[in-house]
Amino acid sequence: MSDLTLPTEAKAVTFAAYGEPDELRVTDLAVPQPGPGQVLLRVGGAGVNALDWKLRRGFLQGVFPVTFPHVPGLEAAGTVVATGPGVESWQAGDEVLGLASAAYAEYAVAEAATLAARPADLPVETAAGLPVAADTAVRGLGLLDLKPGETLLIHGAAGAVGTLAVQFAVEDGVRVIGTAGERDQEALRELGAIPVLYGDGVIDRVREAAAGEPVVAVLHTSGDGVLADSVALVGGPERVVTIAAAQEAGPLGVTFTSGGSTDTAVGGLSRTLALHAAGTLSAPVRTTLPLADATTAHELSERGGGRGKIVLLP
Ligand SMILES: NC(=O)c1ccc[n+]([C@@H]2O[C@H](COP(=O)([O-])OP(=O)(O)OC[C@H]3O[C@@H](n4cnc5c(N)ncnc54)[C@H](OP(=O)(O)O)[C@@H]3O)[C@@H](O)[C@H]2O)c1
Repeated sequence: MSDLTLPTEAKAVTFAAYGEPDELRVTDLAVPQPGPGQVLLRVGGAGVNALDWKLRRGFLQGVFPVTFPHVPGLEAAGTVVATGPGVESWQAGDEVLGLASAAYAEYAVAEAATLAARPADLPVETAAGLPVAADTAVRGLGLLDLKPGETLLIHGAAGAVGTLAVQFAVEDGVRVIGTAGERDQEALRELGAIPVLYGDGVIDRVREAAAGEPVVAVLHTSGDGVLADSVALVGGPERVVTIAAAQEAGPLGVTFTSGGSTDTAVGGLSRTLALHAAGTLSAPVRTTLPLADATTAHELSERGGGRGKIVLLP
């Protein structure tokens, strides 16, 4: 293990009981040690995801039980400060982004194989919000096996996952119809999608937007009660995938996907960074907040209604 001079304790955001956003506290905790295949990051930014507050509320106890005190945070951008046994791909001082655990902290551990180098011209706050969305977008689209010229519907196309999924699909020559609120219609058009308003009657508006071409696949990232009509739209559940409606999916035979792999983590970041290198990446950041304002970050995330990632800056 190589390391710089590291403190033994550092600040992390924890919750010690399920509940409201004000369960989140900044706490001094031992700096974690990277195990085999892992690196320790000095966190420059940690993306906030809906999963973080769903875990905090205890909604996912049956699927993802946590031990208290729990440090939320699934993704980060930061500087490698130590490497665990067997890690040769990174060294102290490297600037990286990727999936991480307990990332709402000054220091966090990540799997070396899932990281990517952060280009110097990609701001740390933007980078911090990319890994989960990139992994999820690549994973969801991969399950749909799309061909150029096919028409895909993305529910929630202006969200963090949707925004990347639109860009990847458009780059692949897929015709994308995306649902979003009024505020985001123009942003979707700029990404190359055909925008449609979400809400009552959405599938009728999608049919109209498709203008006679069959919609052959659906990626659902947001919106309640639309999966059954989505299955009817494409003529069966085989090419309907949701990342957000596990319970609705089951009885319809729709695929719910959760949890990535090294391949999807790396594949997602690679596609995203290629768009950045080409100067075309759209990955808005809604706001940045210090660790001490994690409560506000969760309140904003739970409330919704703003475009772009919320990012904590230790
Ligand atoms: N299974 C997995 O692996 C996985 C991975 C990542 C995320 N997720 C889940 O996927 C969901 C989306 O994540 P995200 O990070 O993209 O969230 P996000 O950035 O908060 O985006 C959610 C988007 O959905 C829009 N929306 C709200 N109501 C809608 C409706 N009725 N129809 C269509 N769109 C609607 C929101 O628009 P407004 O701003 O207008 O409200 C917003 O643009 C979350 O539930 C998250 O927990 C799952």
